[in-house]
Amino acid sequence: MKVFISRAIPPAGLQVLEEATGLEIDYNQRDEGLSKAGLIGRASRAEGLLCLLTDKIDAEVLAGCPNLKVVSNMAVGYNNIEVAEATRRGILVTNTPGVLSESTADLTWALLLAVARRLGEGERMVRAGEWHGWGPLQLLGGEVNGKTLGLIGMGRIGQAVARRAAGFNMKVIYFNRSKLDQALETELKATRVGLDELIAESDFVSLHAPYTQETHHLIDGEMLARMRPEAYLINTSRGPLVDEAALVAVLKNNRIGGAGLDVYEQEPLLYPGLRELDNVVLAPHLGSATHQTRGEMSRLAATNLVMGLRGERPLHPVNPEVLEG
Ligand code: DGY
Repeated sequence: MKVFISRAIPPAGLQVLEEATGLEIDYNQRDEGLSKAGLIGRASRAEGLLCLLTDKIDAEVLAGCPNLKVVSNMAVGYNNIEVAEATRRGILVTNTPGVLSESTADLTWALLLAVARRLGEGERMVRAGEWHGWGPLQLLGGEVNGKTLGLIGMGRIGQAVARRAAGFNMKVIYFNRSKLDQALETELKATRVGLDELIAESDFVSLHAPYTQETHHLIDGEMLARMRPEAYLINTSRGPLVDEAALVAVLKNNRIGGAGLDVYEQEPLLYPGLRELDNVVLAPHLGSATHQTRGEMSRLAATNLVMGLRGERPLHPVNPEVLEG
């Protein structure tokens, strides 16, 4: 069976594919995604595709690769894939949840602390040679200890973020479709609330929901206006959950304390004006970027692909109905 890997991945996944019998592997070894035409050109005869969140696997790509049986995304988010169209074509889609929860939670905290304590501004000041010594009024930021953390989305990553909040004596509230079971709520010391209450009460609002039609611009101008004036917004999920134009406007007016962003509406482009603002910390989609996590994601994506191609149920099917059909 032919397999195409769309971009350079950590070696662990490559090893899984090389050790699987009966696979003919084609690999774009460059650390750069292909154009749509390039992707279709290379994957047109493949039965299996291992792709990244930077590949847009839309109806055109799926039509251009008529032999595809499995599309394995090396990411937990799969909004880069038209899953309904894949399902219609009987193509199994898989993803890599779980293995990146802890590293993404760490990055969430890195952003939260960095924006509250004005680390980016301080670093820029030191590097520019503009620091002239300690000052009692210098770069005063927001307190983290004892504040309220509001988590929108309470899946694996939201839970990992909540677990870390205990070390900061924070009150944790969350908004999620379903309520966690009582034992987990007790362990995380987290209380489920409505979205309006979460927005109004949180000192830190952190996003951990998948990007879907329902979550598009979940945080819009109206929501931002209802945040506490000293509150911070953290986004390590997907950019389009936030209306970036509205966010830039409130940050410009110092209407909220600030924002820590790892993801953007039109990656890698930034909304005009965002780059110039001091009250935002900007990271380049680094949530899962540790050696260990990316290795595990690579291995898991390859394992899902091999299992799917063998006709087995992969570890993480996104559209398991294809297996039943
Ligand atoms: C994912 O897996 O969806 C992450 O965004 C990658 O870091």
